[in-house]
Amino acid sequence: MNYSSVRPIFDKTRPQVYIETYGCQMNVNDSEVVLSILQDAGYSLCEKMEQASIIFVNTCAIRDNAEQRIHGRLDVFRLEKKKRPGIIVGVLGCMAERMKEQLLKNPVVDIVAGPDSYRDLPRLISAVTADAKQINTILSHEETYADIAPVRMDKNGVSAFISIMRGCNNVCSYCVVPYTRGAERSRDLNSILTEAQTLISNGYKEINLLGQNVDSYLWVNPETGEKVNFALLLEKVALLDSNVRIRFSTSHPKDMSDAVLHTMAAHSNICKHIHLPVQSGSNTMLEKMNRKHTREWYLERVAKIREIIPGCAISTDVIAGFCGESEQDHQDTLQLFEEVQFDAAFMFQFSMRPGTKAARHFQDDVPPEVKTSRLNQIIELQNRLSLESNQKCVGRTFEVLVEGTSKRNDEDLVGRTSTNKSCVFPGKGHKAGDYVNVIVKSCTSATLLCEIV
Ligand code: SAH
Ligand code: SF4
Ligand code: F3S
Repeated sequence: MNYSSVRPIFDKTRPQVYIETYGCQMNVNDSEVVLSILQDAGYSLCEKMEQASIIFVNTCAIRDNAEQRIHGRLDVFRLEKKKRPGIIVGVLGCMAERMKEQLLKNPVVDIVAGPDSYRDLPRLISAVTADAKQINTILSHEETYADIAPVRMDKNGVSAFISIMRGCNNVCSYCVVPYTRGAERSRDLNSILTEAQTLISNGYKEINLLGQNVDSYLWVNPETGEKVNFALLLEKVALLDSNVRIRFSTSHPKDMSDAVLHTMAAHSNICKHIHLPVQSGSNTMLEKMNRKHTREWYLERVAKIREIIPGCAISTDVIAGFCGESEQDHQDTLQLFEEVQFDAAFMFQFSMRPGTKAARHFQDDVPPEVKTSRLNQIIELQNRLSLESNQKCVGRTFEVLVEGTSKRNDEDLVGRTSTNKSCVFPGKGHKAGDYVNVIVKSCTSATLLCEIV
């Protein structure tokens, strides 16, 4: 593994590449893998599209609005290409995988490359000519980019992602990810530990382990036959440095084991926060969504988290207006939110994705205005729950990892608690990467307003 440059090199004498990234944290990490491959091939990152001879957009296909946004960006790149006809525009990531050749019909697009084809990018770039567009959307059963050291593009040098697995073997009926990222595969444990150690040596203080379903991580050592599951991996990463925080996502309710919870409880540097998407509070919907868990199962997992890790924060994802969702199904979701009292939630309107099980078997029959109204009800409820969760923190002291200065006021620092709550506080003498103890003075639904103790 080559860890010569953890950070971008910014060399103006090399061909310049500009990379824009949309979608989830895995995509952010993938762009760092792409940059690593391109730097090794003699390219350099640049910060503005206008400086670039190559423009890459790493895309998301999860909902239609995510794709519409990319089409908008392609229009902007088209104007840039009008000014500078020689530049190359490439579409990477999930939308590239989903749309394949269709994207090449857009005159601005020269390269289409899916999530498993990034090693091929230097070749694809060299092969592009005015009348030879390039495409590679072959999915792999093995590719984990284990030997490629991501070149970190985060701003603060405090928090970094490590992808521990790729793809997804669940076929949630609404979801495009299994089609855009292929089958699930777990990455070599040793490469994960080496990458974590390199981050730590370079001053990083927080490591985020990423996978679509981290609980199904399973790596078999080809030499010893030893099986490493997620609980064991988590422990091994946590033991590298007790001064470095470990986070992970996403957990799947059907797979989240007590072993993982016990590991979290045993290590103070594993953050006390679990992102546990529920998607719906209705068993009818969960069944149709092919989530393979019930409402009761989910509530039991939540109870277990709170039993084994008192004070652990729980966040979720939810979809409003899935196919056939009745008013009662929606009420079940609201009621589940009340019951669990989530600390935070990502809330979405259902968007039918071509090619998914839902597209083949169900009607997208909840009217848009009903979807919107249900989503708004969930958001309103969650705002109250988030506020209540934050109000419980007022008067208490927390250890916060400083991430940088506040956007609103550069005298203020921002950071997060182990439970993933955002804190703002006057921070004289402290800097990104420091741990400080703060007392919470007041709060909003989004932020704890604190003072250093
Ligand atoms: N692997 C994770 C999340 C993947 S995508 C998991 O299993 O939960 C992130 C979130 O996007 C999902 O949790 C879901 O809430 C939402 N999502 C996925 N497909 C969607 C669709 N077709 N319409 C609306 N939201 C969707
Ligand atoms: Fe999509 Fe389900 Fe896989 Fe998550 S677990 S990525 S929602 S198919
Ligand atoms: Fe992530 Fe979007 Fe792909 S959420 S996995 S970038 S479809």
